[in-house]
Amino acid sequence: MNVILDCDPGHDDAIAILLLGSKPYFNVLGVTTVSGNQTIEKTTLNALNVIDFLGLDFKVYEGSSDPIKRERVNCGEIHGESGLDGFTFPKHNKKKEAKDAVSFIVDAINSSKEKVVMITTGPMTNLGKAFLRDPNIKNNIEKIVLMGGSIGAGNVTPAAEFNINCDAEAADICFKSGVPIYMVGLDVTRQVLVLPEVIERMRKIGNKTSDMFVKLMETFNYNQKKVFNLDGGPLHDPVTVASLINPELVHFEYVNTEIDTASSSSYGRTNCDLPGYLKKKKNSYVATKINVPLFWDIIEEAIASYN
Ligand code: BDR
Ligand code: CA
Repeated sequence: MNVILDCDPGHDDAIAILLLGSKPYFNVLGVTTVSGNQTIEKTTLNALNVIDFLGLDFKVYEGSSDPIKRERVNCGEIHGESGLDGFTFPKHNKKKEAKDAVSFIVDAINSSKEKVVMITTGPMTNLGKAFLRDPNIKNNIEKIVLMGGSIGAGNVTPAAEFNINCDAEAADICFKSGVPIYMVGLDVTRQVLVLPEVIERMRKIGNKTSDMFVKLMETFNYNQKKVFNLDGGPLHDPVTVASLINPELVHFEYVNTEIDTASSSSYGRTNCDLPGYLKKKKNSYVATKINVPLFWDIIEEAIASYN
């Protein structure tokens, strides 16, 4: 499977990279970065650090520092000053590629012999810009699997989830692209909480990757407790990759989804019409159920596959 991961590491993005590198059937064309959890310089450095630490050969292409229209937002209160607080990565010589993320996405999709699966775990700015630059890329994208949105409540406003709220215009372009889109939203990702027993289970694996997981998650949880009063933070982003590893993991419903780019209080809301009130054309598969024990089995197996 040819895939591109577009991300903003980010504690949960780091674990999405970990999952992606754990299965040889993912042919990772590249990892692209976007401003989101932290500034673009920091999310790019974090992607390079994680990929180097895991011994992966993924190339990293730096992307957008700002959303298409709105002002930039970052999320230091959850992911810390570095965007990946809690673990000190060893020094290395891995560098980002010279090409920018949007050019890479357009070129890689156009030149791929088989259709590409686009996974996004941050604001959808890079992919939105790629569609604006070359709408024909839609013909060679098999599907978009995104972490973002919510059928129910948001996590940054009552209405909106962080990734969509960061750049609703970009999400709107992607949802209107005509490419099959799989929305892994808060309705399922809020169920996979890194509770203390999860940390203990992963610690027992006892390799250097489990050490990274544990240290990152302890800091993530500390911040989640402060901000949301949660005993375990939701491990949002890896659910995208895990749903590709095991299609039984997440149940999706095919519905019409519209992104709110117009109102002020609901900007970034994903209006998923599950009941079919509006009788509009269906354009998205939205996640409604997840098998939580299976998710942790997938995470454990992935961590154990590294050193
Ligand atoms: C999303 O926001 C970010 O903070 C996480 O990395 C995840 O992608 C959850 O709303
Ligand atoms: Ca993210």
